Amino acid sequence: MCGIVGYVGNQKVSNLLINGLKRMEYRGYDSAGISVLQDGKIQTIKKSGKVSQLEKLVDHTLYDSTIGIAHTRWATHGEPNDINAHPHHSSDDKISIVHNGIIENYAAIKKNLQEKGYTFRSETDSEVLAVMIQAIYEKVQCLEEAVRFALNEVDGTFGLLVLSSHEPDRIIAARRGSPMVLGIGDGEYIVASDASAIIQHTRQVVYLNDNEMAIIKRDGFETKTIMNEATTTHIQEIEFDLEHIEKAGYEHFMLKEIFEQPETFRDAFRGRLLADKGNVKLGGLTQVQEKLRQAKRIIITACGTSWHSALVGEYIIENLAQIPVEVEYASEFRYRNTPLYPDDIVIAISQSGETADTLAAVYETKQKGATPIGIVNVVGSSIARETEAGIYIHAGPEIGVASTKAFTSQISVLTILALYLGRMRNLSQSDGKRIAAEILEIPDKIRRILNRSDEIKALAKKQAKSRNYLYLGRGYNFPVALEGALKMKEISYIHAEGYPAAEMKHGPIALIDENMPVVIVATKDEIYEKVISNIQEVRARKGKVIAIATEGDENIKDYANHVIYIPSTLPMLTPVLAVIPLQLIAYYTAVELGCNVDQPRNLAKSVTVE
Ligand code: M6R
Repeated sequence: MCGIVGYVGNQKVSNLLINGLKRMEYRGYDSAGISVLQDGKIQTIKKSGKVSQLEKLVDHTLYDSTIGIAHTRWATHGEPNDINAHPHHSSDDKISIVHNGIIENYAAIKKNLQEKGYTFRSETDSEVLAVMIQAIYEKVQCLEEAVRFALNEVDGTFGLLVLSSHEPDRIIAARRGSPMVLGIGDGEYIVASDASAIIQHTRQVVYLNDNEMAIIKRDGFETKTIMNEATTTHIQEIEFDLEHIEKAGYEHFMLKEIFEQPETFRDAFRGRLLADKGNVKLGGLTQVQEKLRQAKRIIITACGTSWHSALVGEYIIENLAQIPVEVEYASEFRYRNTPLYPDDIVIAISQSGETADTLAAVYETKQKGATPIGIVNVVGSSIARETEAGIYIHAGPEIGVASTKAFTSQISVLTILALYLGRMRNLSQSDGKRIAAEILEIPDKIRRILNRSDEIKALAKKQAKSRNYLYLGRGYNFPVALEGALKMKEISYIHAEGYPAAEMKHGPIALIDENMPVVIVATKDEIYEKVISNIQEVRARKGKVIAIATEGDENIKDYANHVIYIPSTLPMLTPVLAVIPLQLIAYYTAVELGCNVDQPRNLAKSVTVE
């Protein structure tokens, strides 16, 4: 949520910052801006709209500056116009800041500063940081101290970069609850909220910790806490390659990521699934192995698509390991005083590893003495670092705002986790081997569905004028219905509801008429006949049925208006296959409607505010 980037080095900075913003635009695209230090003064250009709008205004020939900061915004406080765009200046224009996060006590601080005669230009919470740093600087005459004192006054979260003409040789970076990565190049440093803005320049990075700041100059950097205690840095290597954050010939990142799923699903279990033993090795859980063996209850907490994979995980873990599992929206978890006990395991699932609500749930878990475990994609992210143990899903960068490959990779990890927990308990080796053998088949089965994408595209085109969709599924496929509806809503702006198929008759059935497409996951399993009855109920009200069915099921053609076949697999693994056509229907519908698939309105990839 909001992308920020800064550079100190020997290259001209304006072009470099714009390119950095383009890499992070999926984090927010309401407005964009840059500040550079030119001839001893801060020069700022900012504009509502996407980075491309800003780029048109930046004449790179005007600047030979080699130090600057930039921002792409996802608006929280203040509408997305030019004035509210970052960077924000102090009232004397000598300090410029870019900020990701929320300053919760900004109103009180602003009032106090206004009473002292300081002026403000925007409606944002962020601007108070710039003005407060100015006010403190006037007393202490040291930028680092001024930033530190200011940060000790604010409540809330920040990923912050500060540039000042008072001390033109440095950028000060700081974080609390918002990610910040410092890339270490040869005589240059690039600092950003996301490693994707850094990888073009260097693979060597330092992830700042919460409440840590970095003073970055051309000839070196220093880190300390915002309480002024020295900290040690740990240089790490970025794990992905540049090609992972490029479209590789696909029209959109979302489509590329959908098509990556045979590989990403496999990458999530590769080296972990011991198929010949019917077992699983999870190095990231070694230190909590005994706690997992003793666990009487698991709570899985997440948001959005990750919450849907959590629901699939609940069913699989309860089935294979016979441990009671509860799934909680992370946003509810921390505010409803959830009873937690020391032998509870809390699994936080997050693609970004930065979702504020999920991170807050991890803190709450620690506070109450239970054991937090992460299932995360982004290496080094806050949730990965704050949890006691974890499993990376290794899906590679997911750039499309609508999550696709992360969902199937999360299920891949949850399935092997369930197997691991099951084999610690009563699951037999032969059952373990049978499930493992089927997991190995899934990548190829995903590929077979993707090969039929033209058929799904034609269907999506035909249905694109529909203003509502209903998605139904039962058992393992109920969360798939939720996920299919979420995908449709977020990228095509068509209203869609996901529902347990059998619950439909308790209300949503009233919505069904000849204009309502109803997507029903009706794969062959023990509740197949019941789902057929649900289809009949839809048909009786003239609803148009699009069935996701198992290959070879000819019978379903008698009931559905359109059938999309997926290969047969174990019921617990059907969500991974059934979701692929739903991702494609949403994608092709959005394309047909001319929607911006990778950057849907009002959304951002990583939601780092509550
Ligand atoms: O990074 P996370 O997995 O924690 O993100 C959770 C949700 O914000 C995310 O899944 C969101 O719902 C996506 N836009 C879904 O496509």
